[in-house]
Amino acid sequence: MTDIRLIERWLPIAALGEESIRERRSMTALPPIYYLHVWWARRPLVASRAAVLASLLPADADRERFLHVIGIHGDPVATRSRIDVAKRTGENLGPDPYGYKRAFTYAPSGEDKGWLASATGRPLPTISVLDPSAGGGSIPMETERLGTASLANDLNPVAALILMATVDWPFRHGYAALESFQALSREFIRRAEPKYEGVFPPEPDGVQIVGYLWARTITCPYCDGLVPLSPNWRLAPGGTGVRLTPHLGDGPGSEGRTCTFDIVNSLTDQSPGTVARGDGTCPFSDCGRVIDGDVIKEQAQAGRMGEQLYAVVYKERVEVGTKTGRLREKWVRGYRAPRPEDDNGAEVRARLDEKLPEWEAFDLVPSERIPDGNKTTEPQRYGMNQWLDLFSPRQLLCHGTSVEVFRQMLVPTGPQAGWTRAGRRPTGIWRSHSTSC
Ligand SMILES: C[S@@+](CC[C@H](N)C(=O)[O-])C[C@H]1O[C@@H](n2cnc3c(N)ncnc32)[C@H](O)[C@@H]1O
Ligand SMILES: [Zn+2]
Repeated sequence: MTDIRLIERWLPIAALGEESIRERRSMTALPPIYYLHVWWARRPLVASRAAVLASLLPADADRERFLHVIGIHGDPVATRSRIDVAKRTGENLGPDPYGYKRAFTYAPSGEDKGWLASATGRPLPTISVLDPSAGGGSIPMETERLGTASLANDLNPVAALILMATVDWPFRHGYAALESFQALSREFIRRAEPKYEGVFPPEPDGVQIVGYLWARTITCPYCDGLVPLSPNWRLAPGGTGVRLTPHLGDGPGSEGRTCTFDIVNSLTDQSPGTVARGDGTCPFSDCGRVIDGDVIKEQAQAGRMGEQLYAVVYKERVEVGTKTGRLREKWVRGYRAPRPEDDNGAEVRARLDEKLPEWEAFDLVPSERIPDGNKTTEPQRYGMNQWLDLFSPRQLLCHGTSVEVFRQMLVPTGPQAGWTRAGRRPTGIWRSHSTSC
């Protein structure tokens, strides 16, 4: 076999581009690994499989067969052009213009794997792919699906765990891994859900909160207004953003000088940013002064930087008509201004204060000092000296609660059992009492 590989000579880039877009087009029908755990830089599976296969095959490998094995069973580029034309002309191309399922859904057959073995001259799974920075696992996942062996890891421990759960356990244990995962998830929810009661304000049926957007706040040293800091107030492409309404109270120095927020739909209606290059700008019309960056840092270091909720992102279930005239459910993203009941910060803070001493004592929250270094010195200038300062109170309360529940599941007699304060060494941490992978 020549040592020149297919990827050095040829790769169907345009077809892979279109298939990669198809793979991600529907946010509710992504490849299953996306739903196990979010990973920010996960590559499309079709492109990953193509890269792996083309790196293993010799340069003169059968290209038609290659396209078949990566799941491209038609001409996605030509179809894309037809769809673009049809959009302009209004032509109805029917429910399946591509004529085949999205490429990543195709699992290589035994015959495909046999072809790979004979084309490379090596029996499977002896050939292996090494991916030392595998992140969300697309490359080892597709390596294993091709019947070859993968060696993968990542610097980030979260990614390393995702790799175990996404690739190692499922391929090693098959459906037993899924059953364990489901049993653990059910048990986690059973134990944790009551503990989250009241942490998030209730929402109507058919609405799911995607995120609460908070701005850090400081007090204007010239007028005592509470200034929410953000470089801009954009929320989404197309003009969706926030307009601030500063309430002036009885003028500079008086009480009640705060901002409320509205969602607007054009760029011109959005308020200008209140911080640029570290300096703030007071949004109150009777002040409007520039607030020096050093003043912001001083307030932060003195523990006087606060936070204010300025928008809530949600998903709403709506029914839409399909081309075939039927109704289908769809989740639509939306933004709304905060309501008074959204801000239960005082209650959350009180619940957190009650828990923190125990959580810190048993190392359930990251109370270590942030070390100096590239990027890590910056938060300290704003008074964030421990890793846990990077979380909002509600985030910390929820994460701490989750870790507490996980600990209880690992060590059935309580979060502390098996842990010593000084050594923080787990004993029996892998002794899962109900199920194990
Ligand atoms: C672009 S992402 C990989 C994406 C991955 N191919 C996927 O599809 O999910 C790059 C990864 O490299 C990891 N990384 C960076 N430096 C590393 C190092 N020195 N050793 C191991 N992993 C590293 C990062 O943690 C990150 O997960
Ligand atoms: Zn001011």
